[in-house]
Amino acid sequence: MKYGFFDDANREYVITNPKTPYPWINYLGNEDFFSLVSNTGGGYTFYKDAKFRRLTRYRYNNVPTDDGGKYFYIKDGETVWNPGWKPCKTSLDKYECHHGMSYTKIIGAKNGVEAEVLQFVPLGFWGEILKVSLKNESKETKKLKLFSFIEWCLWNASDDMENFQRNFSTGEVEIEGSVIYHKTEFKERRNHYAFYSVNTPIQGYDTDRESFIGLYNGFDCPDAVMEGKPRNTEAHGWSPIASHYIEVELAPGASKDFIFMLGYVEVAPEEKWESKLVINKKPAKAMIAKYDTVEKVQAAFNELRSYWDNLLGKITIKSNDERLDRMVNIWNQYQCMITFNMSRSASFFESGIGRGMGFRDSNQDLIGFVHQIPARARERILDIAATQFEDGSCYHQYQPLTKKGNSAIGGDFNDDPLWLILSTTEYIKETGDFSILDEMVPFDNDESKAKTHFEHLKISFYHVVNNLGPHNLPLIGRADWNDCLNLNCFSNDPNESFQTTGNKKGRTAESLMIAGLFVIYGKEFVKLCKQIGKNDEAAEAQKHVDNMIEAVKKDGWDGEWYLRAYDYFGRKVGSNENEEGKIFIESQGWCTMAEIGKEEGLCQKALDSVKERLDCKYGIVLNNPAFTKYYIEYGEISTYPAGYKENAGIFCHNNPWIMIGETMIGRGDRAYEYYTKIAPSFLEDISDLHKVEPYVYCQMIAGKDAYRPGEAKNSWLSGTAAWNFYAIIQYILGLKPDYDGISINPCIPKAWDGFTMIRQFRGATYNITVKNPNHVSKGVKQLIVNGKQVDGIVVPMQEAGKTHTVEVIMG
Ligand code: GLC
Ligand code: GLC
Repeated sequence: MKYGFFDDANREYVITNPKTPYPWINYLGNEDFFSLVSNTGGGYTFYKDAKFRRLTRYRYNNVPTDDGGKYFYIKDGETVWNPGWKPCKTSLDKYECHHGMSYTKIIGAKNGVEAEVLQFVPLGFWGEILKVSLKNESKETKKLKLFSFIEWCLWNASDDMENFQRNFSTGEVEIEGSVIYHKTEFKERRNHYAFYSVNTPIQGYDTDRESFIGLYNGFDCPDAVMEGKPRNTEAHGWSPIASHYIEVELAPGASKDFIFMLGYVEVAPEEKWESKLVINKKPAKAMIAKYDTVEKVQAAFNELRSYWDNLLGKITIKSNDERLDRMVNIWNQYQCMITFNMSRSASFFESGIGRGMGFRDSNQDLIGFVHQIPARARERILDIAATQFEDGSCYHQYQPLTKKGNSAIGGDFNDDPLWLILSTTEYIKETGDFSILDEMVPFDNDESKAKTHFEHLKISFYHVVNNLGPHNLPLIGRADWNDCLNLNCFSNDPNESFQTTGNKKGRTAESLMIAGLFVIYGKEFVKLCKQIGKNDEAAEAQKHVDNMIEAVKKDGWDGEWYLRAYDYFGRKVGSNENEEGKIFIESQGWCTMAEIGKEEGLCQKALDSVKERLDCKYGIVLNNPAFTKYYIEYGEISTYPAGYKENAGIFCHNNPWIMIGETMIGRGDRAYEYYTKIAPSFLEDISDLHKVEPYVYCQMIAGKDAYRPGEAKNSWLSGTAAWNFYAIIQYILGLKPDYDGISINPCIPKAWDGFTMIRQFRGATYNITVKNPNHVSKGVKQLIVNGKQVDGIVVPMQEAGKTHTVEVIMG
């Protein structure tokens, strides 16, 4: 069952039924100021950091779900309704929610009045515009009462939910003209305030929540709205809100636009006050003036649209399946921008208070983003590297506002450092900018300990070499990519977190996943060293890579697949010998991507085992058989019910590793089959089962052992976005930027006749046509660049500023 449709021309998903199986959301804002908005107007706003600088309040896991947001109430006679259906849930004559690229437009109609709310954050602006257009489509004059509504969060979102003894007494506001200012704690250590304005005189307002709503009511029947009378309250403590009251008279056919703005202001400490206890409103007024007419708003909106035209124009494809095209050309790239901005911090499944930017997560997110805005990727890589320790280990995460490592989240995840080699080499291949390697980058944010970025990569590489276990395989530490395979934790206290609890720091538990990762990014490190003339460094590193390959072949192969690990006691994990968890996806992915034992047929065998034991209708599960009891020596993985999350869920992030592995042995049909199982646009028809948005990837789909296989959770913030984009573009469609050009080596379903792609690369445009006359999966017979035949599969660098044609004949 579907709840809407893709409008590819406008790059929108249009929801036509407000009762989606879960709130389907969108993100507004591209740099510093962000909002989450659901299809019924729910959600919240923050500046840079969803924990420390939350502007509006949101209650997770609430009843009913997704209550609280930026609401508009329209009172037309005795009928009260909202354009987005919620919170009043008055049945509408028309409802549409258009989620587009960094904007959302919600349209509702009732009794001859149509209301449209367009929400977006202008580029480079610390504020969100909500343009409300009311139109009278009836034959009589309408006298409407319009109420706006937002609820302020007292800045620190975590404290806001806990510290009521203090918070109920701190709230402060000011009201001047049509602007409501939220200035809680401005008197003390804060130099920032927020405001909510509208570009028209108002006939009343409210800033005290209880007076507006009524203590025993919900958002669905605020007293002030139901009675059609604002209370004109000034909040002192309790819960400050902002609500404007506007009387609107519309003749038949007439319409009117209102521009609301939610803004955030920072002032220099010496300029905080206009007069005693009266805040300096100048910066707010300047912001309001910037967008106080429909024309100005339209111009800003057009700018946002061209910004996205430009970003998405960097890679576009045309295949014979529109579901694939819309993923690649629109939604997957869009999601990569969102994961770049948010890491795993704020979604409808991530509360915005638990996690900031993850070391491994943000490095991986970059591979789907680097082609969009390389300069921002560069800055991010250096920010991440600055949180590394001198021995190569890392904070697992840092807070975006401070850019400092956060020790409360734990550390000791031994895969972390290697991802820095991935992000950096991808960045250099995209841009040709080797200067990033010479940047001086601190350790643990301490400038006095700075070394070049190249040194950071080197210690990342050697962190593995210096931490090998009894089988010469990498020690796992607290965990590797799989946060929940905790082989050193031995936790039996339900009150402690697996992420931070006492880690035995044993030197026995080893990871085959890190082994594969090391072979791949070790080879990348070697290649990079050669590129910059460090041949001795390269030769030395190569030895360690070769040793690792031997170690995997010797002690990492179980007969039909790669082992997953050795536990604290040196026993096999992910072996046919085990009763549960005989086979795991991660090591099959990484060791086949690394082509370890490919000549001996190990890769093919491992991938066949994946098909046989891990694959199901909805994707590839993480492990099999699922764990059915708690294994203290494995940790969190065995805490989840079978079929969910890391315990045999379809953890989408790792499915593309298998797709890539399949392309390494030339099986394009199978790689693509796996792709279509988890790509959201292919799941649109089963939205009722799938539950989450059909336009973005989710972290997890319930696996074959679960109660309801195919049901998804944790949409938006997942490494799946970057990895699936990387897998489809670089391995299935086969176009890979490299230091000296672009290599093209597709691995596609045999039935395909080919496809075309336009790729902007280092200032030039490549118009690429791939033809598959003999219906093979892999193999390039001929490569023709600007009419001339080229040997091999690499398109050499072409002149910038021009368009070049590339023809690839497979066979
Ligand atoms: C979550 C984490 C990621 C981890 C994965 C598997 O997605 O953000 O860092 O690799 O789970 O445990
Ligand atoms: C839990 C989740 C895992 C996530 C981690 C982050 O372990 O299962 O997916 O990465 O929490 O804190």
